[in-house]
Amino acid sequence: MITDPAIQTGFDVLSVRQQFPILNREVKGKPLVYLDNAATSQKPQVVIDALVDYYTRFNANIHRGIHTLAEEATAAYEATRDKTRDFIGASAREEIIFTRGTTEGINLVAYAWGRQNIKAGDEVIVSAMEHHSNIVPWQVLCEEKNAVLRVIPIDDNGELIFEEFTKLLNEKTKLVSVVHASNSLGTINPVKKIIEAAHKAGALVMIDGAQSSVHLNIDVRELDCDFFAFSAHKLYGPTGVGVLYGKKHILDSMNVFQGGGEMIREVCFEKTTFNDLPYKYEAGTPNIADVIAFGAALDFIDSIGKDLVRQHEEELLHYATNRLGEIPGLHIVGKAAKKVSLVSFRVENVHPQDLGILLDNRGIAVRTGHHCTQPVMDRFGIPGTTRASFAMYNTKEEIDALIAGLEKAIKVLA
Ligand code: ALA
Repeated sequence: MITDPAIQTGFDVLSVRQQFPILNREVKGKPLVYLDNAATSQKPQVVIDALVDYYTRFNANIHRGIHTLAEEATAAYEATRDKTRDFIGASAREEIIFTRGTTEGINLVAYAWGRQNIKAGDEVIVSAMEHHSNIVPWQVLCEEKNAVLRVIPIDDNGELIFEEFTKLLNEKTKLVSVVHASNSLGTINPVKKIIEAAHKAGALVMIDGAQSSVHLNIDVRELDCDFFAFSAHKLYGPTGVGVLYGKKHILDSMNVFQGGGEMIREVCFEKTTFNDLPYKYEAGTPNIADVIAFGAALDFIDSIGKDLVRQHEEELLHYATNRLGEIPGLHIVGKAAKKVSLVSFRVENVHPQDLGILLDNRGIAVRTGHHCTQPVMDRFGIPGTTRASFAMYNTKEEIDALIAGLEKAIKVLA
């Protein structure tokens, strides 16, 4: 019997779970305990149905056809753009660009904005807790342009050292690109403060919202960020879809990213003119089915209520942190005062991968390794961590199963 205090506040985890068919499956003869949500979340039936419905009833290419199926597909695809605008509080639908994911959104900005605006001697700032996808595109850009990549250090709790950030800002700083919530530490960064300070120094700010968009309310206008990128698949939507938000006047002024159909107004061999926003950045046939299913995911999140989910996830985080703290030799990596619902940890004399394998034998899915944040692991002098990350459908009973699994595994391995 699954119990949860959040039921008393209107959040019924049992009925939430019933909407995710995969949660009924067994792994290695045990009920699945899925605690790898920071890698990707599971999908509710409504999202799976939306995909099937599109291919069953109105599969057609969009923006091009005058026939009924094309019109229906176009309307459904564009409806997701409106829902996304509302989801992040953007001012205009033109500011919502569909991409393949967060990584492509960051690469788009590094390519289209970066190559136009960064010159020799300029500086780009990232933090020491970035995912590789928010390091490598800037590193490549800086190498190409002879610009300098600066890094905001983090402290032992896994928090950004804000004073060090302000020391890095100067008239050469052209862009600050930081993660909103760290995928390996859970830290929620003070992005509003970062944006204000960067803007004062004359720099633009890009926010990697891959982890934050599912856990926190996002309001890009209130944050005043210049770019914000996130992925559908961490938001209970399908893989292969992401969103890049950019302020309209900046997107308008930028060079194009990929060339091809849809992003043009007129092509001739002498000169090509480009389409208006947002199509200017959506070359080729997009991922129509998955964008439409992402719309269903956004409706689903709305129907559950993001604030209730956050309260539930905070309880899970608090419970997991306390219970993990009871295990001798286990050390939590990432003790920021404000965290999203994930816990990374290491266990003395035990390799994370071995732990992961033994947990999987009990049907428990966690992620192990460097989590695509090798500089974070270097900062803490460790090869990797084991990470349990929670979503709206997780329960305290599942955390108890994790603890029992860890205790057994540690006995075998240590
Ligand atoms: N970046 C994803 C993670 O943290 C894949 O697992």
